[in-house]
Amino acid sequence: MSVRRSSVEALLASQELDREVLVKGWVRTRRGNKYVQFIAVNDGSTINNLQVVADAEKFPEETLKDVATGACVAVRGTLVASQGKGQSVEIQATEIEVLGKADPETYPLQKKGHSLEFLREIAHLRPRTNTFGAVLRLRHALAFAVHQYFNDRGFFYVHTPIITGSDAEGAGQMFRVTTLPEQNPPLNEQGQVDYKEDFFGKATNLTVSGQLEGEVTAMALGKVYTFGPTFRAENSNTARHLAEFWMIEPEMAFFDLHDNMDLAEDFLKYLVRYALEKCPADLQFLNDQYDKELLGRLQFVIDNDFQRLTYTEAVEILKSAKQKFEFPVDWGTDLQSEHERYLVEKHFKKPVILTNYPKDIKAFYMKLDEDGRTVRAMDVLFPGIGEIIGGSQREEDLGKLQQRMQEMHVPEEDLWWYLDLRRFGSAPHSGFGLGFERLVLFVTGMTNIRDVIPFPRFPKNAEF
Ligand code: 4AD
Ligand code: MG
Repeated sequence: MSVRRSSVEALLASQELDREVLVKGWVRTRRGNKYVQFIAVNDGSTINNLQVVADAEKFPEETLKDVATGACVAVRGTLVASQGKGQSVEIQATEIEVLGKADPETYPLQKKGHSLEFLREIAHLRPRTNTFGAVLRLRHALAFAVHQYFNDRGFFYVHTPIITGSDAEGAGQMFRVTTLPEQNPPLNEQGQVDYKEDFFGKATNLTVSGQLEGEVTAMALGKVYTFGPTFRAENSNTARHLAEFWMIEPEMAFFDLHDNMDLAEDFLKYLVRYALEKCPADLQFLNDQYDKELLGRLQFVIDNDFQRLTYTEAVEILKSAKQKFEFPVDWGTDLQSEHERYLVEKHFKKPVILTNYPKDIKAFYMKLDEDGRTVRAMDVLFPGIGEIIGGSQREEDLGKLQQRMQEMHVPEEDLWWYLDLRRFGSAPHSGFGLGFERLVLFVTGMTNIRDVIPFPRFPKNAEF
């Protein structure tokens, strides 16, 4: 009778012993002596390995020579209570088949403790390490939790376009999408590339945000969210920026700035709580291996109210701070990450939501405050991360929006459809964008954003 394959996770949790089982996975290590060999097998279902015990009588060294670190194996045997420490069950092997060999001379993941920089160069193999297995399982859990959260609360998931014809949002530099020939593209009368001849009959780019289309659907479905890839061609070679990242953007009719803040805070706490509940082993590993304060920090975020204050109040705090900043703080200038981190990590020692920024440093679509100087913006700042969420209440008044667009040189003809939302049944509404990788960075305690996405895209790097 043939047994069905079990996952390592299921076997490790199993109470049913002394039965025949089949497991398939990759060899992490093999060690032992001339009487018995221990093979640690991992199949990705959990961070924990399953110990396979191979007696030398049945498995002389010649038959085990290909059971080396990195090889893929299928193991049949009996699930028994473990004799050793560190695991409750193990497999007493009766049959070991090597499905795919890995030459120990050339397999790059031989020793433990490769640097994260080295692993970035072998992004095709790093998922087989404990660290990246944990990060990828957490990434999955968080993505799933995003959908769960919104679905449970009556939001609709909308798919906004990836190729966009408007580059008006101003959230960042864009990547051009074109099928025009590189050599001798068609030119217009001014001698510039004639995008009328291009695939879409106009210049197109990869999107920097799904917000404007999110607003379109919120003005019909009420509460929506997007969760998709976004692209920014800014040359920021930092540990917080990617050229291709994923963003979650809820957009809600009838929400003001306070409703928006409440949602953002509740949403973030839900996601962190979900990760703690669903991925305890992975988080424990990351806590022990990289950052002894990780679990404490996650719990702290769940347990405490975020500090809410205006940009103007924050500037006062920063001006009277004892700390010397590299960049001076003055009302009207954008806050640098050193300022954000001072507020979060030194002054309040908790997550902060900053609101009502000067209109000149924020996007044209944000709702103007009564004073005419600030807008109903909100940024959520997190310890170790800085800005994790950016959002606002949107300007719903046609005239005020048109005026802001003129002041900020946003061409009306590109956004006629966006203005139509204010012409026909306009409504107060709000939304925000959560950078998914910044969330994963926070939850995993990793320090470089390139280590929380399987295949990072950043200046001068698009390998894999
Ligand atoms: O603050 P941003 O630019 O806001 C928007 O794009 C709005 N349209 C969102 C909205 O209101 N619907 O970006 C939102 C978040 C940031 O707070 C940050 O977490 C993340 O996206 N982000 C990046 N993450 C990784 N790499 C980059 N280059 C990022 N730029 C922004
Ligand atoms: Mg922002």
